[in-house]
Amino acid sequence: MPASLVWTGLLFMVVGLPILSSAIPAPRSADPCAKIAGQAFVVPADAMACLTSFPFNETLRQNVMSVVSNIFDFYTFEDYYLNSPPPFQESTVQIRQELARINTTQYSSDYEFNRDLYNVTTILNDGHTRWLPSCYQTFQNLLPAPVVTLEVNGEQNVFIAPDSVEFINLVGTEYTDYFASIGFDWQRLAGARVLSIAGMDPYAYADLIADTETGNYLDHGVRVNSCWSSYRISGTDFSQRFGDIAGPGFPDRNTLTMEVLLANSTKKETVTIPFLASYLGENFTDSASFWTANCAANNETNGVDFLSGSDLGRAGSSLPKRPRAVIKDASQRNAVGLPDPFLPTAPPVNGSEAVIKSFILPDKKTGVMFVGSFEPDDFNGFQFDVEAAIKQFKAEGVSQVLIDLSNNGGGFVCLGQFLHEYLAGSKIGNPGFQSTNRANPLAQKIVENVIAKGITSNFSFYAPDNWASLDNVMLPNTFNYDQPPVTSVINGATYIESQRFFDVCTPFAVDMPEEPPFDLSKVAIVGNADCASTCAMFSTLMFERHQTKVAIFGGKPGLAMEYKGMAGNQVLEWTDIDSEIKTSGLANDPLAPPDLLVNADFRHNWRTAYSFLNEKVPIAYESEHPQFRFPFTVETYMNPQNLWEFAAKQLF
Ligand SMILES: *[C@@H]1O[C@H](CO)[C@@H](O)[C@H](O)[C@H]1NC(C)=O
Ligand SMILES: *[C@@H]1O[C@H](CO)[C@@H](O)[C@H](O)[C@H]1NC(C)=O
Ligand SMILES: *[C@@H]1O[C@H](CO)[C@@H](O)[C@H](O)[C@H]1NC(C)=O
Ligand SMILES: *[C@@H]1O[C@H](CO)[C@@H](O)[C@H](O)[C@H]1NC(C)=O
Ligand SMILES: *[C@@H]1O[C@H](CO)[C@@H](O)[C@H](O)[C@H]1NC(C)=O
Ligand SMILES: *[C@@H]1O[C@H](CO)[C@@H](O)[C@H](O)[C@H]1NC(C)=O
Ligand SMILES: *[C@@H]1O[C@H](CO)[C@@H](O)[C@H](O)[C@H]1NC(C)=O
Ligand SMILES: *[C@@H]1O[C@H](CO)[C@@H](O)[C@H](O)[C@H]1NC(C)=O
Repeated sequence: MPASLVWTGLLFMVVGLPILSSAIPAPRSADPCAKIAGQAFVVPADAMACLTSFPFNETLRQNVMSVVSNIFDFYTFEDYYLNSPPPFQESTVQIRQELARINTTQYSSDYEFNRDLYNVTTILNDGHTRWLPSCYQTFQNLLPAPVVTLEVNGEQNVFIAPDSVEFINLVGTEYTDYFASIGFDWQRLAGARVLSIAGMDPYAYADLIADTETGNYLDHGVRVNSCWSSYRISGTDFSQRFGDIAGPGFPDRNTLTMEVLLANSTKKETVTIPFLASYLGENFTDSASFWTANCAANNETNGVDFLSGSDLGRAGSSLPKRPRAVIKDASQRNAVGLPDPFLPTAPPVNGSEAVIKSFILPDKKTGVMFVGSFEPDDFNGFQFDVEAAIKQFKAEGVSQVLIDLSNNGGGFVCLGQFLHEYLAGSKIGNPGFQSTNRANPLAQKIVENVIAKGITSNFSFYAPDNWASLDNVMLPNTFNYDQPPVTSVINGATYIESQRFFDVCTPFAVDMPEEPPFDLSKVAIVGNADCASTCAMFSTLMFERHQTKVAIFGGKPGLAMEYKGMAGNQVLEWTDIDSEIKTSGLANDPLAPPDLLVNADFRHNWRTAYSFLNEKVPIAYESEHPQFRFPFTVETYMNPQNLWEFAAKQLF
């Protein structure tokens, strides 16, 4: 900075303007955000200079910590973290001690404070429970060398994705031109075998990223799979994910050094690969407008009282609110397509326009439904798509069905239950899990007020008519399911929750088959276990209730892994819980959190789903391994149809 100040001063002298030190405007180049304004891709050090330019502010810290500590009172899994049960013991975090530490640490910038809090919620490894400050969720760092784990000649190793050239070119010329301008040849790295990353064994490096940056999934092995590049559906398109090693969420590394054997070479080489960050935030021109656009609270940051005049109806409709269970993956915001050579060649069947892509494999007997998400734009459309695909499978004589759940981050709870019931037949009764929420003192007051005010499920998730009794009868809206509350002891702490209930998802939008459309032993699940929330609940229902075969690809050789990622039951975003508090008339209660002064989300897992096999244990903590594990190969790692054809031969 001093150098550019001098330079600007000289310029002023040359053009002969008067030099009054107090009147010199701040030189543009002194504003680190102005320097990167308007750029789609930013050199990481420049991005960090902008992010770290906002001073630490004690008022903002007190505001954020007050919201966060109040909302943790609603978190269903808090007490598990005191001593997380095996095999999830890595996720042990002393949450309240960490909050107290963050409340008193001295930070050099607002970023450092937010990053510390972000880090603490990341190592909970629960994608439903995270501090997500919009201000600092504005970049994804991208390495032009995404890594994958492949079995070649019977041995598993880490490679730079063999399709890197096709894939990286899809990021666009603004990205690739930068590497050309600095003379960095990333194309030659495609397919290289990786011997070390940052001086570590590449699998050990994946372990490190899985433990410090991936978050989202309780199981370590599942997080390792998130480190690799992988195929997915993003929005309604096939897409390739960079993975957490090559596509981390902060621009805080300039380079990554790898020792590699280039494809077809036997000579070890050390390469220092530059990152270039992709900008994901709102447009800005300088620090002040960056703050306004991305960081300052706006009219949608906080919840509202749905019953108050101006916000009446903001809840949306006369329909019940729809419970969601989904993770937030920032890499969805600038998603890149799956290179053409890897798109399925089998023709799509009916119902493949949105988040589900269905095919009949060339063997003519295997139907595939790639369910990319349970959060479509069109809730009923998802159901029509399932019906259309299954009808066509039946019409064309399909006898076995693969469900691909790779990188399915979840979505509407009832669509997971819908797919389960459609495949298993309506004769199974309620297609979901026993569920509860935490009955902390403020939650108990909310339930009381919701009942007293006659608020129903179109305005509140606390309203009893969201739920059914364990006899599968909708609760009357006068039934206080928190009285008496249910008490248990978890890791020595007293946990207080509601009585148990089921979701009410019926009636569905399509006629449900009473019997399974396919013999359930001929339905199998494949994927990379990065299957979160509603996806984890769907796969658990299939596994626990029908012993459905599950095949998981990838991971770390020799390391056990779960078949599902993170299985809360329902997430409430900060605006959701804040609206519950305000709508029930408790905004001024001493236990209520203040409005957030910054643009951020503190989401939390608000409900627990209990295992069907062991109704004392949340499914999140019920360890279940897939019956089948396969390594990825050059043929299958990015080619869904090849993977399905391989799986069909192995599983049926
Ligand atoms: C800290 O943030 C608050 C709330 O946005 C603001 O009013 C105050 O001016 C800030 N303090 C400083 C020293 O910038
Ligand atoms: C943070 O510290 C302040 C005192 O400086 C205290 O009033 C507040 O309750 C603390 N908040 C948390 C969440 O510990
Ligand atoms: C957050 O975690 C990352 C990854 O481990 C680490 O590099 C960074 O220093 C941490 N930042 C803070 C403020 O704790
Ligand atoms: C490596 O050799 C194989 C077979 O000779 C060839 O098909 C492939 O294109 C080569 N790969 C590279 C990156 O040169
Ligand atoms: C943001 O900037 C981009 C590129 O400069 C432009 O295409 C886009 O329309 C702008 N968006 C808004 C909301 O102004
Ligand atoms: C918030 O403000 C933006 C822009 O001023 C507007 O487009 C949006 O509809 C507003 N949202 C609400 C919920 O009022
Ligand atoms: C919500 O449901 C209640 C009846 O249960 C109804 O009176 C009210 O109009 C509904 N709200 C909206 C916005 O449709
Ligand atoms: C596919 O959808 C079309 C249009 O809705 C319909 O006419 C056709 O019968 C469907 N095909 C099968 C095999 O179900």
